[in-house]
Amino acid sequence: MKNGAPNILLTGPTGFVGKRLLYRLDEAGLKARCLVRPPEKLILPKKLSYEPEVVYGDLLEPSSLEKAMEGMDAAYYLVHSMGGRSIRHTERFAEMDRRAASNFARAAKGAGLSRVIYLGGLGDEQDDLSKHLRSRHEVAHILQEQGPPATVLRAAVIIGAGGASFEIIRYLVERLPLMLCPKWVQTRSQPIAIENVLDYLAGCLTNQETAGRTLDIGGPEILSYADLMGIYAKVRGLSRIIIPVPVFTPRLSAYWVNLITPVPAGVVLPLAEGLKNEAVCRENSIRGLVPTHLIPMEQAICNALSEVREGPGRLLSRQSCFIGS
Ligand SMILES: NC(=O)c1ccc[n+]([C@@H]2O[C@H](COP(=O)([O-])OP(=O)(O)OC[C@H]3O[C@@H](n4cnc5c(N)ncnc54)[C@H](OP(=O)(O)O)[C@@H]3O)[C@@H](O)[C@H]2O)c1
Repeated sequence: MKNGAPNILLTGPTGFVGKRLLYRLDEAGLKARCLVRPPEKLILPKKLSYEPEVVYGDLLEPSSLEKAMEGMDAAYYLVHSMGGRSIRHTERFAEMDRRAASNFARAAKGAGLSRVIYLGGLGDEQDDLSKHLRSRHEVAHILQEQGPPATVLRAAVIIGAGGASFEIIRYLVERLPLMLCPKWVQTRSQPIAIENVLDYLAGCLTNQETAGRTLDIGGPEILSYADLMGIYAKVRGLSRIIIPVPVFTPRLSAYWVNLITPVPAGVVLPLAEGLKNEAVCRENSIRGLVPTHLIPMEQAICNALSEVREGPGRLLSRQSCFIGS
């Protein structure tokens, strides 16, 4: 630890959350070492106040993690294995995520890290959880059981440009005046603005009381997915009709969403299967531990759209747009 600032390893810095966290940590005066699969894949849209150290690492290759962890005090785990253009790719992600989490936890423990912070998913363990949500919970347990004290933050849909769930909502509402949706669009969820997710991720690092704890994070409103699409349409001034249809299966929805949106089928299917599960905070202790202003969904969508319009430079700025501007 140099001058009291922890040495931080950031996994997933090429991803939606990880890349933004790199900038948020920089704003807080914290430097991070970036773990990337091919290092040239890390393209930063805006200069940081320092030149970040970029190291090769693949969580599925334990030998690559030793060097990446060397000298680190804390690490963020912002990784998942969903993806691929084909629905066939969805068959292996849970097993890959188990291996990735275990490799990471063991390497972190071996290297003497004192903290790990993981962003996973909401959803009740006793519920009939989708494969994706169950896998996110499994990763949490593996990190907490096999590694240094791990803070597990559990979130529902994150609203921000480039986030898979937000992009699905955006493309569907933009392109379809009339939407036939599975009945699960009426399931309750507690979406959260990306800005607030970053507040919590960064805030947990400096609050030792969050070490080793599982904390639910959510925005100020509990909404159905249909409500969320309705808010999106309102922000954009679009008139949209949503009709839930009982015969729509997650697989059918995934094929359909895949036709309408650029989000890969290997991501859409696991997310669509999770629509049936209520994703609402069951406890709110994070609000006392890391106080922040929770952004209402109308404003969060407006902020995300402003990022979409103005590109990745805007995306990394903390200023908000204002509804109607
Ligand atoms: N987006 C949401 O709405 C949302 C909601 C709730 C929770 N979360 C959680 O937030 C975390 C980050 O999600 P995200 O939306 O930022 O995902 P993302 O944009 O898809 O990024 C995933 C990251 O994981 C990296 N990765 C995957 N497998 C890896 C491996 N074997 N070794 C090293 N890196 C690997 C990817 O690197 P490559 O670029 O090399 O593929 C990428 O940087 C996840 O734990 C997710 O469950 C997200």
